[in-house]
Amino acid sequence: MKRTAYLLTLLLIVTGCTKEPVAPLNIIPMPQSCQLQNKIFELSENPQFTVSADENTCKSIAEYICSLFPTANLAAEGELTLQILEQVENITSPEGYTIKTDGNGIKICSTSESGLFYALQTILQCIDNEGGVPYGTIIDEPRFAYRGMMLDVSRHFFDKDFVIKQIDAISRYKMNRLHLHLTDAAGWRIEIKKYPRLTQFAAWRHAETWKEWWNSGRKYVDEGSAEAYGGYYTQDDIREIVAYAAKRHVTIVPEIEMPAHSEEVLTAYPELSCTHEPYKQADFCIGNEKTFEFLENVLSEIIELFPSEYIHIGGDEAEKKSWPTCPLCQKRMREEGLKDVDELQSYLIHRIERFVNSKGRQIIGWDEILDGGLAPNATIMSWRGTEGGLTAVAAGHKAIMSPGTFCYLDQYQDAPHTLPEAIGGYLPLKKVYSYNPVPEEMSSENAKLIYGVQGNLWAEYIPTPEHMEMMAYPRILAIAEVGWSQPEVKCYDNFRNRAITAVEYLQKKGYNPFDLANETGNRPEADEQLQHLAIGKKVTYNENAPYHESYAASKETTLVDGIRGGWNNNDGIWQGFVKGGIDVVIDLDKEETITFIGADFMQICNPWIFMPCDVIISVSNDNKEYTQLTHIKHEVIKDDALTFKNFGWQGETKARYIRYEAKSSCEGGWLFTDEIVVK
Ligand code: ACM
Repeated sequence: MKRTAYLLTLLLIVTGCTKEPVAPLNIIPMPQSCQLQNKIFELSENPQFTVSADENTCKSIAEYICSLFPTANLAAEGELTLQILEQVENITSPEGYTIKTDGNGIKICSTSESGLFYALQTILQCIDNEGGVPYGTIIDEPRFAYRGMMLDVSRHFFDKDFVIKQIDAISRYKMNRLHLHLTDAAGWRIEIKKYPRLTQFAAWRHAETWKEWWNSGRKYVDEGSAEAYGGYYTQDDIREIVAYAAKRHVTIVPEIEMPAHSEEVLTAYPELSCTHEPYKQADFCIGNEKTFEFLENVLSEIIELFPSEYIHIGGDEAEKKSWPTCPLCQKRMREEGLKDVDELQSYLIHRIERFVNSKGRQIIGWDEILDGGLAPNATIMSWRGTEGGLTAVAAGHKAIMSPGTFCYLDQYQDAPHTLPEAIGGYLPLKKVYSYNPVPEEMSSENAKLIYGVQGNLWAEYIPTPEHMEMMAYPRILAIAEVGWSQPEVKCYDNFRNRAITAVEYLQKKGYNPFDLANETGNRPEADEQLQHLAIGKKVTYNENAPYHESYAASKETTLVDGIRGGWNNNDGIWQGFVKGGIDVVIDLDKEETITFIGADFMQICNPWIFMPCDVIISVSNDNKEYTQLTHIKHEVIKDDALTFKNFGWQGETKARYIRYEAKSSCEGGWLFTDEIVVK
């Protein structure tokens, strides 16, 4: 039975937060423009639908609709009409669509099948979240063409069924690329017929978790041996994944790492490294022609399996340590006139690009492929901040923005003590959502080269499928909205509510998203604006104990700006010291009565950030003669926890100058503090 629910008729114009929509559509990503009435059309139990397109599209859309609504039937004039047109008013992207709904039914138009598919995702979410499709008009198209998620299946292996399950989820939220990081030290994950040792040996290791393997010798073992952990996709698995994804308008982008992150290859085939020794090298020998023979043979099979226009060739974090002494690499540099090892890496990338282009495909590389000169047609995936992407764009190349501070979803999304161990950092949903891939100052010409955005799930600390889903959802939905919706229709508070609905949906469908509704939030101290005697006063750093440039925060003003840091040492508020510890003097401008002096420290042992073992607080009136108020000796206990502790003095004294000294317990260890509070 077709039912139309009549509610109060009210014209709603959804234009984002500034106009405070009365009842915005509860879907992700937020459409471009909605003119809706407070009245919904409910599809009947046996929906009749009509498709008007070429034969193949009709067939494929009909199949998809019948998979969604098993009792649906094709009809001459259905309640759901899908139409492919040469042109659709107000739509410029082939992924765009319009939906017009009234008492007669729902009418979708697009210029392509993917547009119809995305319109159906809008409709499905409306049905799930609103009970039906609101009367009125939705006009929608993506902001960026590339909207991706990366799964690292090397550090831990996630099988074919897991990948297929994630394709269902990301395509619901209109993401269209799944980048598989298929190769890395921790395991090679794809069958290559020509090189069987890649999957008979380099895909298996002696320890289940990456951390245990990394810390205990990093050995590979034979497939089938008792201790073997790992796995790989057979070529049939890949064909199945690619075909499944294509039906959901998701392209699988394969990544084969080169010239670095290749310990597993160089242990299986040591003749491809500079020293020919297994377990010694991460970088291919670029002087050896066999390296190119191997890479081209592997890429030929990859290109055969993956129809993606783009093949990701890695390019990040080469150590380049053997190339300066390797006779073959040195010979290559002389013969090719390469002045340094960056140019040697660039030689490899250029040559591989020529090969990939000769097969009709394009390369993507991490932003290090800029070093030594960018290959002519390469697209950059910008991860070390945004600079690489912006440099590439300025040089006329496309860039996919994936900066670690907004897009690395392996970081904690909530208070670390409430979550399983992660790599570190603190990247809550709100921060992911706040990312704008196009800097405000960028010209509109250059902005066209920002191809899109991607969320990356590196898996060093993600050992299980459940954990991977918890890290992915709902943060990947923020990436989906950053990639699809124009900034004018974005609003975090509104998005958060929609994401809570999405979390409930995903839970019902058997996913394990993070429980956003019960988020703890940032370190409470970080949300307080402090008032104290030292705010804005002059801080002088002992020249033997400078803050580290990489963790300068707001430099000389950091320790007296009234702002304390959050869960993450890298949040631009904590200041880091490594050499000489901390030794600063604060000048209060005049003698003050002081009853408290203290500073917070953080400890997280993995990146070598420790509590101080000695803190000395002294005061002076002339900045020459100091009176020690306290000398705190602290026993540093190393554990896995992220902890915070205040080291301070309480009492009563009068002084103008305050000297705060802290020493790390550990040679080469870091100290991080955020504010020296003086009351
Ligand atoms: C990377 O995170 N090394 C691309």
